[in-house]
Amino acid sequence: MIIGLLNQKGGVGKTTLSVNIAAALAQSGARILLIDADPQGSTLDWATARKREPVLSVVGFPRKTLHREIEQIGQGYDHIIIDGPPRVEELARAAIMASDIVVIPVQPSPYDIWASDEVIKLIDEARVYKPHLQATFVINRAIANTAIGRDVRDALAVYPIPTLKNTIAQRVIFAEAATQGLSVHEMDAAGPAAMETKAVLDEVMEIMR
Ligand SMILES: Nc1ncnc2c1ncn2[C@@H]1O[C@H](COP(=O)(O)OP(=O)(O)OP(=O)(O)O)[C@@H](O)[C@H]1O
Ligand SMILES: [Mg+2]
Repeated sequence: MIIGLLNQKGGVGKTTLSVNIAAALAQSGARILLIDADPQGSTLDWATARKREPVLSVVGFPRKTLHREIEQIGQGYDHIIIDGPPRVEELARAAIMASDIVVIPVQPSPYDIWASDEVIKLIDEARVYKPHLQATFVINRAIANTAIGRDVRDALAVYPIPTLKNTIAQRVIFAEAATQGLSVHEMDAAGPAAMETKAVLDEVMEIMR
């Protein structure tokens, strides 16, 4: 399966969720390729910061031919995660076309909700060529028991794309883990961040079943 983390909006959690979902998949012993499709190279930075043995492979491929080359690049892997770029439309388009399912992180903020239009437009365009392309929002940096936390789900409901039931909360462990090139699971396997990441992954897998 190829999971693309996409959103034209910057700083919504594409890289954070990419590395942690990829690491959660690798946990089961599957062979995982994490593709950094962002010229910023944040996922490559994460891999570089790591001192421990890698649990998955990371490659940089910020090119608009990704969808045509992914079969070749992904040979020998069970699952592929693509960390998408913000803004650069032609790279985002290639990453969407390469994916089986696009997961769109959205923060509980009106700016993020308004900005969703752009990625939805790209998904609509991609579906002309790839009618079975799946897509879902996931709420990232949720803060429990806030009005904006509840509002974001309602606001996203107007789009023709579902929102995952499970959310990822605002937790400092995500940044702490990234500093060392680790996943939240490696930092605290039984902690809430690892649990939420796993629940999000399971829900994505369920959609694809
Ligand atoms: N659930 C979370 N809790 C706390 N901090 C988070 C969470 N998700 C992301 N962050 C932080 O928010 C910042 C942006 O996250 P990230 O780099 O993953 O977003 P991005 O969408 O990949 O950004 P870009 O568009 O620049 O590639 C980072 O500092 C990251 O540590
Ligand atoms: Mg990023």
